[in-house]
Amino acid sequence: MMTAQGPDLEVTVLENREILPGVHSMVFRTHGNVYADSLPGQFLQVEVSPGPFPVTRRPLTIDGLHGDDCVRVVFESVGSGTSMLAFKPVGTSLRILGPLGRGYELRPGGWLLIGGGLGAAGLGFLASRIDCRSVLLGAATSSRLLPLPGLPVLTATEDGSRGTHGLVTDLLGSVEWTAIENVAVCGPVGMMDAVIRQIPERLLGMTQVSTEARMGCGYGVCEGCSLPAAAGGYLKCCTDGPVIPAADIDWERWRGGNT
Ligand SMILES: Cc1cc2nc3c(=O)[nH]c(=O)nc-3n(C[C@H](O)[C@H](O)[C@H](O)COP(=O)(O)OP(=O)(O)OC[C@H]3O[C@@H](n4cnc5c(N)ncnc54)[C@H](O)[C@@H]3O)c2cc1C
Ligand code: FES
Repeated sequence: MMTAQGPDLEVTVLENREILPGVHSMVFRTHGNVYADSLPGQFLQVEVSPGPFPVTRRPLTIDGLHGDDCVRVVFESVGSGTSMLAFKPVGTSLRILGPLGRGYELRPGGWLLIGGGLGAAGLGFLASRIDCRSVLLGAATSSRLLPLPGLPVLTATEDGSRGTHGLVTDLLGSVEWTAIENVAVCGPVGMMDAVIRQIPERLLGMTQVSTEARMGCGYGVCEGCSLPAAAGGYLKCCTDGPVIPAADIDWERWRGGNT
């Protein structure tokens, strides 16, 4: 897997569009071709206010690149920082640091992508770089399903408002496993853990998960983003991840702290 720490740049908000209730697609113009080498799974630390509150920037996954100098994120307003970001009008200047962290290792062979809720942010970017055979998306309800146009998507919703009535794991029975050599999973810890337990054993070593943890710095200094490692001790989400081989995580300890 590749890791990087990109520059800290002033950018301009080029687009701010509400694509689902409370979910925004935001495009930043970067005044230079600095994101061309970004990998799917890498993230940006986005300044949400220039003043002292909130103190830290907010980590958001790169959802796609546009042309030479634009980068997109998709985020949900869940608290103070993301709410402030949601109200930034087009033309606002702010600072972003990135690309940061380790992205997906883009291996050859067929891929299965599995996303839960907003965990699907960035899967379209990944699909554009690999041989994507199938995408499974799950959410509580249809208004939490991110659109992934042009991809072979199967959906499940907990309230039955779209696709299969149930959980994303209920879709695993529809997968043509012989075509799959790589799996990417992104979503809440409980969902990722349930997926890992149910995929064929031969694919466990070929499964990469995109992790999330509360972050401070975003580049390995504050130790605020620890995840339990299978080898004992901890991994840092921001520099060992966010994309981590599923086999490197101690799922029992992680699930215990984040259900
Ligand atoms: C590497 C990485 C990539 C991410 N990519 C995306 C993305 O593409 N789109 C998106 O919508 N969100 C993404 N997140 C989550 C996003 O960073 C948080 O939702 C955001 O920081 C919340 O900030 P806030 O000030 O709005 O909320 P706060 O007021 O700080 O908290 C509100 C709620 O969100 C939870 N929360 C806060 N920060 C995080 C965090 N870092 N991870 C998980 N939960 C958190 C809190 O526990 C609380 O329940 C990502 C997180 C990480 C670590
Ligand atoms: S966020 Fe500071 S070490 Fe990871």
